[in-house]
Amino acid sequence: MDALKCYLGFFVSILFIVYQFTANRRNQHKNLPPSPPSVAIIDHFLLLTLSIHQAVNNLSNKYGPIFLQRLGSRPTLVLSSHAAIEECFPKHDIIFSNRPLLPSRKVLEYNHSLGSHYDNQWRNIRRFYVLEIFSAKRLQMSSNIRTEEIRFMINHLYKRSFKEVKKVEVKTLFYSLAFNIVMKMAAGIRWFEDEELDSDISKGKLVDLVKMFTPPLTMALGDYFPFLRWLTYYGEERKLLKNHKRKDAFIQALLDAHQNNSSLTSTDGQKTGQTLIDVMLKLQESEPELYTNDVVKGTIQTLILAGTHTTSIVMEGAVSQLISHPNVFQNARDEIDSHTGYSRLIDDTDLAKLPYLHALSLGTLIQCFDWEESQGPLKTNLSKPENKSAEIVFRPREAFTDLLAQL
Ligand code: HEM
Repeated sequence: MDALKCYLGFFVSILFIVYQFTANRRNQHKNLPPSPPSVAIIDHFLLLTLSIHQAVNNLSNKYGPIFLQRLGSRPTLVLSSHAAIEECFPKHDIIFSNRPLLPSRKVLEYNHSLGSHYDNQWRNIRRFYVLEIFSAKRLQMSSNIRTEEIRFMINHLYKRSFKEVKKVEVKTLFYSLAFNIVMKMAAGIRWFEDEELDSDISKGKLVDLVKMFTPPLTMALGDYFPFLRWLTYYGEERKLLKNHKRKDAFIQALLDAHQNNSSLTSTDGQKTGQTLIDVMLKLQESEPELYTNDVVKGTIQTLILAGTHTTSIVMEGAVSQLISHPNVFQNARDEIDSHTGYSRLIDDTDLAKLPYLHALSLGTLIQCFDWEESQGPLKTNLSKPENKSAEIVFRPREAFTDLLAQL
C-alpha cells in the first residue's frame, strides 16, 4: 500500500511539473501582469486552500495591486486596490462578466443555470436582480423590512438585557438578523421568532443553516488541474453534494409552500404576493423556458448566500472594530445623538445626514445600547465561518429605556 502511495505521489508530481512547464511556455510571449514564479505556484495553491484571504494579501504585498496567479489551468487576476478594481468594474464589465464553470460546482449551481457566461441568460438573470432586488421600489420595500427586523432584534435584546446582564454571541445575532431579512424579502416570513432566538432548538437550526448556506470557500483541486478531478470527486465534492441535497430540499420546501398556498400570509399578517419567490413563480408561468426550476431555485440560493453570510460577516467585523476603537464608537454615537436626540430611533432616511455612520443596523445598536466585551479581543475569521464568535454584553441606555419598552 505504501509503495502504491509512493508511485501515485511520484506520478502526480511529474504531471504537475509537465503541466506547469507547458503552461509557462504557452504564456511566455504574452504581456501579462506580474506573477509569482512558477515553481512556487503549487505552494501558493496549497496556501490558498488553507486561508485564501491571508495568502492573497501576502502575495499582493509582494507583487502589487494587480497580479496574475496561475491556479493550475486557470489564470487568475488578483486586484487589491480601488483604482485597479474600478478599471475592471464598471469600465470593462462585460470582459469580466464571465464566471468559470467549475466542474465541482455544477450541481451546486443548479447545472450552471444562472448564466455563467455573458449571454442572453446572463442578461436575463441580471435584469431580474436589477429590477427585483436593487430597483428603487424594491430597495424601499426592503428598507421597510430591514427597519422592521432591526427593531424586532433590538426589542429582543432589550427584553433580554433590561433586568440582568446577558451575553450575546455577535455572530449568532447578526446571522439571525440577516437571515430574517432575506427570508422576508424572499418568502415573506420571519425565520427566527422572538421566543426561538435563545432556545437550543434555534441554535441547532442556526448552525444547520450556516452550514447549508455558507459559500464553499475550499478549492477543489480538480477544478484547476483537470487530470486530478477523480481525486476531488471522491473527496471535497462528495461533501459539497451532500450539503447541496439538504439545501435543495430547504429551497424546494419554500417553493412548495408558496405553490400550495397562494394566500400565504407573512408573520405580520400581510398577504404576500410581492415576495421574490412570488415574482419568480409568476415569471415561470409566463416564460417557462427562461425561468426553469433550476433557475428559480438557483436564484433563491444566490439571494440567501449573497445576503446572509456577507452581511453578518461585515457587521461582525464592524463590531470588532468598534469595540477595539471606543473613540470611533463614541463619535458615531455623538453624531446620532446630536441628529435625532433621544425621542426616536434612527432609520434609513437619517443616513444621508450621518456621514460618520454607514450601517443602519449597527447604528440602532449604537444608539440604544452600551456595549461591553465579555472576553478577549474579537476576531473574525473569513475562512472558518463556523468558528465560535465573541460575546458582547449589551445594556440598554438609560435615555432609551422608555422608547425600547414601547417597541
Ligand atoms: C455587506 C454585505 C454585502 C457584500 C460585501 C456584498 C458583496 C457582493 C459582491 C462582491 C458581489 C459580486 C460577486 C460576483 O460578481 O462574483 C455581490 C453580488 C450580489 N449580491 Fe451582494 N453583498 C452584500 C450584501 C448583499 C445583500 C444584503 C443582498 C441581497 C439581499 C445581496 C445580493 C447580491 C446579488 C443578488 C448579487 C449577484 C450575484 C450573482 O451575480 O451571482 N448582496 N455582492
